[in-house]
Amino acid sequence: MNKFWSPLVKSLVPYVPGEQPKMVNLVKLNTNENPFGPSPKVIEAIQAELNDSLRLYSDPEGESLRQTIASYHGVKPSQVFLGNGSDEVLAHIFCALFQHGEPVLFPDITYSFYPVYCRLYNIEGKPVPLTDNFEINPEDYKQPNGGVIFPNPNAPTGCYLGLEHVETILKASPDRVVVVDEAYIDFGGETAISLVGKYPNLLVAHTLSKSRSLAGLRVGFAVGHADLIEALNRVKNSFNSYPLDRLALADAKAAFEDKTWFQKSCEGVISERERVTRALEELGFEVLPSRANFIFARHKSQSGEALAKGLRAQGIIVRHFNQPRISDFLRISIGVFEQNNALISGLKSLNMPAGNSRVQVKKGE
Ligand SMILES: Cc1ncc(COP(=O)(O)O)c(C=O)c1O
Repeated sequence: MNKFWSPLVKSLVPYVPGEQPKMVNLVKLNTNENPFGPSPKVIEAIQAELNDSLRLYSDPEGESLRQTIASYHGVKPSQVFLGNGSDEVLAHIFCALFQHGEPVLFPDITYSFYPVYCRLYNIEGKPVPLTDNFEINPEDYKQPNGGVIFPNPNAPTGCYLGLEHVETILKASPDRVVVVDEAYIDFGGETAISLVGKYPNLLVAHTLSKSRSLAGLRVGFAVGHADLIEALNRVKNSFNSYPLDRLALADAKAAFEDKTWFQKSCEGVISERERVTRALEELGFEVLPSRANFIFARHKSQSGEALAKGLRAQGIIVRHFNQPRISDFLRISIGVFEQNNALISGLKSLNMPAGNSRVQVKKGE
């Protein structure tokens, strides 16, 4: 705390991103990046932009990229909003489209940035408990609210909600905006973008960080009714008119154009996800059904904390959340074949005891 801080800053509890360790040779399975890397055409596109044009501002509307995204998803460019990563898109959504005097609903176990945005904009966040199976029950969202947001598939659980259930949530709050955060949708789910023509209260958020392997580029977007997009543009143009630089705009466009690379990359993640799931189940893990590029798993006898520490000692980094209901779970991003093998043998070497009581972490472990 400092006397120069505003009362707002004093009240903030910022989001803590997954670790980006400086050490090399780690098996890094902690931040849901895509291990297959971006398309070579994306690298070519960025190189083509490395010229004198960098002295000029980028297109504030990102028109060409919005057109590409619109035709990819069968909507109009006026229905597409671009942001510096979907985190920025989400921040603008909380500011522009939720009713700040009423509670915004989101699952109790979900993307931990949502409560952070609530505090930033002084919105009451109301966690809605997932079921005992860690699933979203659409019936639980039939209650007064200032807006609804949930990831689909959910993070960190990986569980997917079918579109008929998404529609139940949309129908329950026709006068409020419902945001479906589809950061992981390309790994086996069906996008709700097909519903934006039917529901003027639906906004779907996407990112290029996961399925298009461009986390370092920072490109996200939202698709919805043009009136919702206009609200987001009002906030964006009151904050930063040029959220995407020239390299990002050119690169993101190339990522959408290389459909073959995109499909191969998603299929690679999905088949490795199934292989890792089976291997972990054989080691005594319960693995929640995942449609994302990560799995969420707990061992029948070993604590999540002990396992995360044991893996870390071997240079394998996974994510552990020390929070109620999920402290026994590990969230493990799917890597390439060799990384996943390292994970599986790393777990085997921990000699996890069979039995039903969870083992506590030993001091110094
Ligand atoms: C559910 C969810 N939404 C949004 C994001 C933000 O993605 P980005 O800001 O990289 O586009 C993440 C990142 O991990 C996420 O897990």
